[in-house]
Amino acid sequence: MKIHVREALASDREAVFEFCRKTWSWGDYIPHVWDKWLMEENGKVFVATIDGAPVGISHVTIDKPGEAWLSGARTAPNFRRMGIASAIAQKCLEYAKSRGAKVARLVTESDNKAAIAAVQTMDFKPVAEFVEMTLEKPVNSEELSACSRWARKSEAEVVWSFLETSEVYREAAGLYTVLYHWFSLNRRDVERFVAEGKAIICLDKADGGKICGLTLVEDAPSREWHENTLQTCYIDGDFNAVLDMAKFLKAHCAFKNVEKIYGFTCNHKPIITALEKLGFKPPESTAIIFQKQI
Ligand SMILES: CC(C)(COP(=O)(O)OP(=O)(O)OC[C@H]1O[C@@H](n2cnc3c(N)ncnc32)[C@H](O)[C@@H]1OP(=O)(O)O)[C@@H](O)C(=O)NCCC(=O)NCCS
Repeated sequence: MKIHVREALASDREAVFEFCRKTWSWGDYIPHVWDKWLMEENGKVFVATIDGAPVGISHVTIDKPGEAWLSGARTAPNFRRMGIASAIAQKCLEYAKSRGAKVARLVTESDNKAAIAAVQTMDFKPVAEFVEMTLEKPVNSEELSACSRWARKSEAEVVWSFLETSEVYREAAGLYTVLYHWFSLNRRDVERFVAEGKAIICLDKADGGKICGLTLVEDAPSREWHENTLQTCYIDGDFNAVLDMAKFLKAHCAFKNVEKIYGFTCNHKPIITALEKLGFKPPESTAIIFQKQI
């Protein structure tokens, strides 16, 4: 059977929704994003067809200059293990390259054996593991934060210096996440987070007030999903620094009546333990970020 890959058409909708109906026990998110994806200026959906009928899709966006993000790979259940996902990914990568991308990334859940096997055959390498810790209805901790506050604009440079020598930053492959996409975290991003008042720092009083922790946050989930929630995009520091920053964040969220915190962090034990101590719940699986130079 010959596999043909082309850009998605609005008329693919019904066939695609039909084979995505039972992707997971709860269904799939593809129907919620389909219209948006097809209208994007910085992305494309590619569809594989056999005898003219859609049998697979994947989505690619150039979120940040030079960086492609692949998502939404789906192959109709009866057509799996025939090279369809690989053929679509190939097209996505060609498109990304033509748009100037030098690196492509994607995420899979640690328990998705098929996806992990498939991306590894395409030469994607795992570079980082993130965890989505969640905290419902944050209330003030009994003990308040003692050493954390929002970073000031003038501090962007020292925040960046902190990251440059950070082990967690290396473990996170220098990445942060917003809305389930992962991006490189560079000096400019740090400046933006700080300027927008979205960077919490922890100061080490015993070491002349040096920065010993950093938490970057985003309210994008609120805007995107119309809920009063907040996410962390990147967390860095030892157990005590993270504990203190998390107390600060909880107090901020309690004050703002935030209903839920999506606590994304690189899977670094002291960070997870500190968040758990403050009531954050760990997920059943972790998020593995894969990367490939293109
Ligand atoms: C993951 C998924 C997209 C793979 O699609 P596919 O069209 O079957 O993938 P391919 O045929 O291109 O697979 C290429 C290679 O990946 C590996 N692979 C794919 N599925 C596998 C599985 N279930 N078990 C083991 N290896 C697998 C194999 O090495 C395969 O080559 P082979 O068949 O010659 O051995 C498909 O299983 C799917 O739609 N799953 C549900 C949705 C999903 O999990 N999407 C990914 C989210 S990150």
